[in-house]
Formats: sequence, C-alpha cells, structure tokens
Amino acid sequence: MEKSSKNKKLVIYYSFEGNTKLIAETIASDIEADLLELKPQKELNSKGFMKYLWGGSQVMMKKKPDLHPLDKNPQDYDIIFIGTPVWAWTFAPPLKTFFSTVRFNNKKVALFSCNGGQNGKTFENMKAELEHNDIIGEIEFFEPLVKEREKDIHRVKEWTKDILKNL
Ligand SMILES: Cc1cc2nc3c(=O)[nH]c(=O)nc-3n(C[C@H](O)[C@H](O)[C@H](O)COP(=O)(O)O)c2cc1C
Repeated sequence: MEKSSKNKKLVIYYSFEGNTKLIAETIASDIEADLLELKPQKELNSKGFMKYLWGGSQVMMKKKPDLHPLDKNPQDYDIIFIGTPVWAWTFAPPLKTFFSTVRFNNKKVALFSCNGGQNGKTFENMKAELEHNDIIGEIEFFEPLVKEREKDIHRVKEWTKDILKNL
C-alpha cells in the first residue's frame, strides 16, 4: 500500500439538531478527515415534546429510514469515526439503516455521541454492530451546542489527538 493512502480518515455522523454535527465537523477539520453525513430522505420537523414521541417511536419500532445516497465509501478508509445523537438510550435510526446496509471489517473505529445526560446503551449497541472492527475510542458530549461548547470542542480535539497518537 502506498504511504499516502495509509490511515485515511472518515467521520460518519447523523445529527437532528446540530450537536453531533458540531463535534463531527470539529474532528474532520482538526485531522483533515473526510465527512459523511447520513441524511434521511424524510426528516420530521418536530419540535418540543413531539420530537421525543416521534423519534422515540422510530427507535422502538426499529425503523430504518431511507437515506440519501452516500457519497463516500467507508471501505476506502482505515480510521473511521462514527457519531450519533442518543435517542431512547441508543443510537439514532439513520445509523440503524447505515449498519444494516454498509458492512466493513478490520477498520479502526472511534465512537462519539451527543446526549441530554443519558447515554444508555448507545456505545454497547454500536459495538455490537461493528463486531469485526477494532474500537479505538469512545466519548460522549452533553448538549455541546448550548452547554459547554468551547470546552467540548477542546475536549474532542484532545481525544482525537490521543487516539491518533496511540495507533
Ligand atoms: C427522539 C429523541 C430521543 C432522545 N433520547 C435521549 C435519551 O435517551 N438520552 C439522552 O440523554 N438524550 C436523549 N435525547 C436528547 C439528544 O440526544 C440530545 O439533544 C443530542 O445532543 C442531540 O444531538 P443532535 O443535535 O446532533 O441531534 C433525545 C432526543 C430526541 C430528539
């Protein structure tokens, strides 16, 4: 393998309200990784309490919403970061679609999540979907857009640096 093609990095994420997007974009720009946003074909415009009912029921019913075509192939990368908002104590439905349609093995994978204080089984469930990969890190953030934005940006950069240093 050519040296230049080694350690290609990809950040894959879904974000409903921008928190996970903030973290994903911070990682990608910090380490010059490519970005792959998972975008459902139909996204509900729910606000307030309705969004929890709608989103929670999507998780309970194990929905796999159709996504817009992916413009990057994870197979082409060596190190993959995957981020999700926590919905009903696990990863959000667009990730379920992703895991059921895109398979990859033997990658180095780091997980990140944004939540409202309860990460639940998010990482455990993601790891079950990624069992033939090497999980090299996990980190959660508590509403980084509105709580401790600058601190969290610093924290994710340090985390990313440590991960790459220890490879
Ligand atoms: C449908 C739905 C379910 C949620 N369930 C949880 C949960 O189980 N635990 C939690 O801590 N936060 C939960 N939240 C809050 C989000 O995880 C949190 O606001 C996160 O920062 C949103 O990320 P995003 O802006 O990238 O969409 C939920 C939010 C929604 C919309």
